[in-house]
Amino acid sequence: MTLNSKFRDIYAHPVGRDILDKLLVQTGKPAWLINNGIIGNVTLGAVQRLTRGWLTPSFFEALLALLNIEPDAPDANNAAATPAWWKEAVFYQIYPRSFAPNGLRGIIAKLDYLRDLGVDAIWLSPVYDSPNDDNGYDIRDYYKILPEFGTMDDMDALIAGLHERGMKLVMDLVVNHTSDEHPWFQAALRDEHSPYRDFYFFRVSDNGPPNNWTSLFSGSAWNYYQEQKVWALHLFSKKQMDLNWECPALREEIYKIVRWWLNKGVDGFRLDVINFISKTEGLPKGDSFVGTLMGYTGIERYFYGPRLHEYLKELRARAFEPYKAFSVGETPGIGVQMGRLLSDSYRRELDLIFSFDHLETPGHSRFDDYRYDLSYLKRIYQTHLNADRGHGWNTLFFNNHDNPKFLSKVDPEGAYVQPLARLLAILQLTLRGTPFLYQGDEAGTQNQPFTSIDEIHDVESLGLYAELIKTMPPNKAFKRILAGTRDHARTPLCWEELERQRGDPASVRQFYRNLIALRRSSKALIYGELVFLRPKDKTLLSYTRTLADECFYIEANLSPTTRRSAAPCGAELLFGNYAGSPSTLRPYEARIYRINKLSKPM
Ligand code: NOJ
Repeated sequence: MTLNSKFRDIYAHPVGRDILDKLLVQTGKPAWLINNGIIGNVTLGAVQRLTRGWLTPSFFEALLALLNIEPDAPDANNAAATPAWWKEAVFYQIYPRSFAPNGLRGIIAKLDYLRDLGVDAIWLSPVYDSPNDDNGYDIRDYYKILPEFGTMDDMDALIAGLHERGMKLVMDLVVNHTSDEHPWFQAALRDEHSPYRDFYFFRVSDNGPPNNWTSLFSGSAWNYYQEQKVWALHLFSKKQMDLNWECPALREEIYKIVRWWLNKGVDGFRLDVINFISKTEGLPKGDSFVGTLMGYTGIERYFYGPRLHEYLKELRARAFEPYKAFSVGETPGIGVQMGRLLSDSYRRELDLIFSFDHLETPGHSRFDDYRYDLSYLKRIYQTHLNADRGHGWNTLFFNNHDNPKFLSKVDPEGAYVQPLARLLAILQLTLRGTPFLYQGDEAGTQNQPFTSIDEIHDVESLGLYAELIKTMPPNKAFKRILAGTRDHARTPLCWEELERQRGDPASVRQFYRNLIALRRSSKALIYGELVFLRPKDKTLLSYTRTLADECFYIEANLSPTTRRSAAPCGAELLFGNYAGSPSTLRPYEARIYRINKLSKPM
């Protein structure tokens, strides 16, 4: 791709397509606007000339670099999805700090609860030794358990306890960075000739930071070490130092860590910000337009770096494949096509990725205080969920430890929590992909009523607040923090509430339990073909899942006003989030029907 490339060709390129699709979504414009004879023929060079003074040459240089990194395109042929345990499983994420008291022992005490809910596998957020600057995502020792969570014996007991119950364990693997207290970093900082020096990005620069990259947690991405007169890169907190994957010895250490845990019996890993591991050679400066647009300067230099596929293939071949271990990558910013190139099975990179495209509506970011319109979720699902043509698979989730509660985003006043929590459960367990529940989903957990910055603990929120109050009054800054803080997801899980819901057949907990059992009982809900109906209807999301003779029809009213149901005649209602099934759907009503595959939904 060059400045002579036409828009049509850029849209046909997987990276170009993802970038242009994002721009189209943000501006609310349809794809034909780019994909037509006139605009399609316009060259990038012409756009550069037209936008001179507004978009700098570095923007076009960065865009072309990204396009030219990727020589491949996802396989366009259809394939039948091959069966795998992790496609059939229901995962449950545990954030050990707030799941239950007593760390690993506390988790072991809840395994029967999880099994009873229908959970097949756990993704456990980090329990490794850490100074906890970012709640364990800053690892000091990959081979040791943080004492406040227990001991390695407790870890072994957890693995055994899960396996006895037929469940699996997926650990968090944080290898984009380590804590600055990791012995590798300490040795590397102290001695420039240390064999660990090349494990990190150290740079000497007399006139300020080596480049203009900003940290995802606010401020410059560089620490200056006065005594050593050297800078070191950290994309996250000041204590999370980025690892240099270009160094073969570092990669060997990472394979060693992975194999060590797999030898212990863990079944796979969730790979933290794994798409950030390959930085563009020379760490060139970021484009300021992209920086303003995305909120982070420099991101285009590492979110889909030049050696990413190579590193992932090597990691898989050297450490995962010998154990047939499972991998799910956390991949912020990755679009549909790039996601396919990272996770389609024939590529032998990752098994699954977490795409975050559905978590905010166009024009909004996590710290904006706004109401999420569910018709966007429908739009996203329609473009994402069948995009892999059978070569790949999706993850289905609404919450994790990095986001405020999705329920509260859709319904900030909490007026429709009861139907909404169940509507989301229905989508999560009947769409095509692997459900990842976050602790508390099964209780319909909402955001916390924090009233002051003193109640906020998260390093990201505190960094952002310090930045915001430089330019706005504290109450306004706090409002932004309140909208987006990760602390909403990190307060202790309310076991009293879950206990209260235990015997209640009408509870959210029981609803999840029944839905998980339904999914388990039907291969159509797992591997069945997914067909979206009424694609233009903004308030009704409806689809069928069909395999052989089994067919389900699912519909959900995405709005708080009543509307007509489109269920076919004679359909058998299996599940709903309201009692009865009148011909109108009530606010956020969702239903699952079994239908005859020949009957036509309306
Ligand atoms: C993503 C993790 O989910 C998040 O909690 C963490 O702060 C960053 N990566 C940095 O490790």
